[in-house]
Amino acid sequence: MPLDNPQRYTVTAALIYANGPIHIGHIAGCYLPADIYVRYLRATGRDVAFVSGTDEHGVPITIRAQKEGITPRQVVDKYYVQIKKAFEEFGISFDIYSRTSKPIHHQTSQEIFLNLYNSGNFTEEVTQQYYDETAKQFLADRYIVGVCPVCGNENAYGDQCERCGSTLSPTELKEPLRSMLSGSKPVLKETKNWYLPLDRMQPRIEEYVNSHPEWKSNVAGQCQSWLKEGLKPRAMTRDLDWGIRVPLPDTEGKVLYVWFDAPIGYISMTKEWAEQQGRDWELYWRDKDTKLVHFIGKDNIVFHCIIFPAMLMHEGSYILPDNVPANEFMNLEGDKISTSRNWAVWLHEYLEEFPGKQDVLRYVLAANAPETKDSEFTWKDFQGRNNSELVGIFGNFVNRAVVLTQKFCDGKVPVKDDLTETDQAVLDELAQYPDRIGQAIEQYRFREALTHLIDLARLGNKYLAETEPWKVIKTDPLRVNTVLNIALQITANLSIVCEPFLPFTAGRLRTMLNLEKLHVTHTGWINAGKGDLLPEGHPLGEAALLFEKLEDQVISQQINKLHEAKRMNELAVKTVPEAKPEIQYDDFAKMDIRIGTIVEAERVPKSDKLLKLKVDDGTGRRQILSGIAKHFTPEEVIGKQVTFLANLAPRKMMGLESQGMILMAEDRDGSLSLIGPGKAVWNGGTVS
Ligand code: MF3
Ligand code: ZN
Repeated sequence: MPLDNPQRYTVTAALIYANGPIHIGHIAGCYLPADIYVRYLRATGRDVAFVSGTDEHGVPITIRAQKEGITPRQVVDKYYVQIKKAFEEFGISFDIYSRTSKPIHHQTSQEIFLNLYNSGNFTEEVTQQYYDETAKQFLADRYIVGVCPVCGNENAYGDQCERCGSTLSPTELKEPLRSMLSGSKPVLKETKNWYLPLDRMQPRIEEYVNSHPEWKSNVAGQCQSWLKEGLKPRAMTRDLDWGIRVPLPDTEGKVLYVWFDAPIGYISMTKEWAEQQGRDWELYWRDKDTKLVHFIGKDNIVFHCIIFPAMLMHEGSYILPDNVPANEFMNLEGDKISTSRNWAVWLHEYLEEFPGKQDVLRYVLAANAPETKDSEFTWKDFQGRNNSELVGIFGNFVNRAVVLTQKFCDGKVPVKDDLTETDQAVLDELAQYPDRIGQAIEQYRFREALTHLIDLARLGNKYLAETEPWKVIKTDPLRVNTVLNIALQITANLSIVCEPFLPFTAGRLRTMLNLEKLHVTHTGWINAGKGDLLPEGHPLGEAALLFEKLEDQVISQQINKLHEAKRMNELAVKTVPEAKPEIQYDDFAKMDIRIGTIVEAERVPKSDKLLKLKVDDGTGRRQILSGIAKHFTPEEVIGKQVTFLANLAPRKMMGLESQGMILMAEDRDGSLSLIGPGKAVWNGGTVS
């Protein structure tokens, strides 16, 4: 059952694998909603632990290490630092951002494993797994390569084929199988592992899931489909050498399953934080009045709604997740975000290229958050929302309120006179906004909350447009005082209610309004909605522009960059061609390879491929036809020294005889290049 108005919260955001940088999809789906939620909770006076960090175990880390040619340790050290810094600069206000490689995490995970083990909650199972006899290691699915049963790709992985996209299991692969570690043929070998018997646990899990009818429909839907299919036992230990050692005798070469230890990271990181703060961690994990909320992306739902709760409820001493407001995915410019295809907007790059504009990205990502279905980020939309909503509505209103006060009221909050009906109506409406925004946030409807926020700025604009202080000043300065007082009160309210979404802007607003000078209670949510936040006579700070227009050129640059990065990536993933079978020296010696100079060149009529070349080979001019017309003009090649195969049997092409073959190097992108000698060499010189 959901808790009623809890005062203490443990809020977590998924522990992302420390195997690459983070992109806008991660932020929109998980970290930004979590941060908005937490900032709001803090503003309403709740006690919150906001916990996250990096997931540093499991095959995703070892794969990355292999790709980059470094150790798993080096991989996680590198990305932990990079990810942590990006989050900090982006204003994600974690109370702690730690990592699963910390000793306290290893201890906590082993302890929970042992508790479950000792209370008889695991089953032992012996299964056959692929083993690499050369590397002396069991192989994770990803490390087994074989022929795809669907498309015939000879380099399909044991978990999926990257050519046709099929999800596979290693036993589906066709021969020949090889190990990615040593290249040798894997063999099946028996191994013992410990399983969480989720099948037996199903009734209790069902009861738990069903006690939360308030969960988002995308989350509930996934849970129901897992339950309907029937839960299966899942191994909580793995044969792998990177991870947390299994705390049982005779378990050399086994570690805890990464999805066993990672969510425990939320607990161990809370412990670490509580220790730093001199607080009691148990309040955040064992007190029934604490509300536990996990922010994640949709690919993590089963782990947070079924497996982790199953671990916790059977261990027995922990509270269970109260809500798991998982989001769907965000696409980018009409295509799925993909790290491997390099189709992403990377946070660390954005921060570098748009300094001081964290809130613009926060705004656009929150406005397009994939709350109920997959959503889309485009740079055009980014520009549009910045220019029309942030600059045109929010910034414009605040700027007018402050600048008009500088101009007409000496930069001080003017005195309110009698209120008209319009004034009263605006104040009444203002009073409703904080609740409206707060309600939406508490129900994880962040997009809606954001539209209320902009509507409040809209209300301010409309009020100024109706009351026209810039005109009235000539006839009725007292009236202007009242209007500007109210406009400034709206601005002060904006500084409070925009903070969860736009914390940097909130800070600038506070400076502009000189809010730090006022009593601290003026910044809490509880004060929002009031028409007298700013006392009469309070001096304002300097007016500054909160947002600036983004020009077309900046946007098209980003779009080009995206396409360019993807293109470079496509080139990079093209692999070096397979080696040919071995030959003997004699095979090589049969070839008469020589240097010559191209002295004439012309296109072969009716052929778009062939050039007819005359090559000075030291004894005369031989005619060679070469299929390079798409790569070179005749003019380009005349005068060039080239390498050619001189004793290739003559062949006829398009009715012309070719006496030899020009050698070419093919680049990754398919472009050709002539192979000349390193320095000028006499024509007819041999190559050996
Ligand atoms: N590392 C996982 C991922 O990136 C998420 C782990 S979340 C936690 O998909 F629960 F394990 F912490
Ligand atoms: Zn395939």
